[in-house]
Order: sequence, then C-alpha cells, then structure tokens
Amino acid sequence: MSEGEERQYRQEDSKVEVSGFEAKYYDTLMNLITLGRYPSFIRRAVDDLDLKPGHRVLDLGAGTGRNALLMHERIAPGGEIIALEIGEEMKAQFIRKTQRYPDIRLEERRIDGPLPYEKEFDTVFISFVLHGFVQERRETILANAWRALKPGGRFSILDYNNFDVDAVPVWIRFAIRRVECPLAEDFIRRDTRQMLSRHGFGTFRQHEYFGGYLRLLTAEKAF
Ligand SMILES: C[S@@+](CC[C@H](N)C(=O)[O-])C[C@H]1O[C@@H](n2cnc3c(N)ncnc32)[C@H](O)[C@@H]1O
Repeated sequence: MSEGEERQYRQEDSKVEVSGFEAKYYDTLMNLITLGRYPSFIRRAVDDLDLKPGHRVLDLGAGTGRNALLMHERIAPGGEIIALEIGEEMKAQFIRKTQRYPDIRLEERRIDGPLPYEKEFDTVFISFVLHGFVQERRETILANAWRALKPGGRFSILDYNNFDVDAVPVWIRFAIRRVECPLAEDFIRRDTRQMLSRHGFGTFRQHEYFGGYLRLLTAEKAF
C-alpha cells in the first residue's frame, strides 16, 4: 500500500465469529498453535487482571468458558461473571464447562450492539475479540464497556499489542497477514490507548506476553 492510502476493511471479512471445526476444537487449537504454552499464558494473563473475591466481571465474546473458569477461581466467593457470546459451538462448550457454577452466567448478546448494563461491573474483560471488528464497531464496544463499568472499574483488553507489522520477523508478518483475521492488522496499527482515552479511560497498565506481541492493556474508568 502506498503512503496515505488506507485500506478499507469490511466486517464480512472478519473471522471473529468462530464456528464449525475451529469453534469445536478452539481450546485444543490454541494449545497447538502456541506449542503447548497457551494454558500457562492464559493463567498468567488472568492473574494479571488482579481480580478479587466479590468482583463482578463482564466477559465480552467469552468463548468456550476456559477464561471464565480461571476468573471464577479469583472472584469466588461472592463475585459473578456475566459472559456474552453468540457462537453456537462456543455457547455449548461454555455451558458444559461452567454449569456447576451458578455465579457464572451466559447471555446470548451481540457485544457490538447496545447492551443493557450500566455501572454494574468491577471489570470488563475482552480477550482476542476486539481486533476482529471494524473500527466503528470497536468504538461501540468501548462505549459499552465504559457504560457497564462502575466508577473506578477496569476495562482489560487481552489482544495484540501495537507494533509496526512491516518491521517484525517474517513468520509473524506471515501469520498476521495470511492466517489471522484480516482485521487484525488494522487493530495492531491503531493506537489502542488513544482509542481508550477518547472514551474517557485513563491510568493504563500493561502486561506483555509472547515477546511483547500480545498484551493485557488495562484502563480505568475514573471515579
Ligand atoms: C477468537 S474467539 C475468543 C474467545 C475467548 N474470548 C477467548 O479468549 O478464548 C472470539 C469469540 O468472540 C465471539 N464473538 C464474535 N463476535 C461476537 C459478537 N458480535 N458478540 C458476541 N460474541 C462474539 C465468537 O463467537 C468467539 O467465541
């Protein structure tokens, strides 16, 4: 692409609505792609959320329930997880994994449309989901997170870091451009902190993983 020319992204190009084989074996595929490192990585990332017993968490695009179970270890007793998910295979796995816990609730809602929550949650978490939306929908998701959080609450985005895709090793560039969701590169190129600041978030905290290509970016909704 020449300088100044901006690629147009369409939501139809996104791979974020995972279905079929990929959804059915999602956790196993993540373990394989990361050569077995995913379980320890995701445990560390959930530790870095700094959740406390009694916290209420809203999980946007919750997936199979693997993350919810890890978060549950930290928010129990007294806390609650509301997980939003629309994928059929994902929902089925989520229900299977979490049915023992009445304090983990799955709701079938699109996260990129209006949500009914206001000042209810200590943490809003979104893990490997935000990159898969066109910018306009990302802004809606950020506005939803802001509205759903209590004052002093935290929004945590686990996803790609911001970096220069042209400058990374060729195999990473290949994975981003040829294997990943086509919208991921657009997400990586945009300044996520700036995006969050525009919605009123501040006091950023960042944890990095996998050589800094992935990060947990946490921002606060001020009192
Ligand atoms: C890449 S997976 C990540 C799942 C989970 N957050 C994780 O980290 O394992 C993306 C998830 O977002 C869900 N999703 C995609 N678009 C969505 C939407 N508009 N509303 C709710 N969930 C959505 C998909 O069904 C899928 O489970």
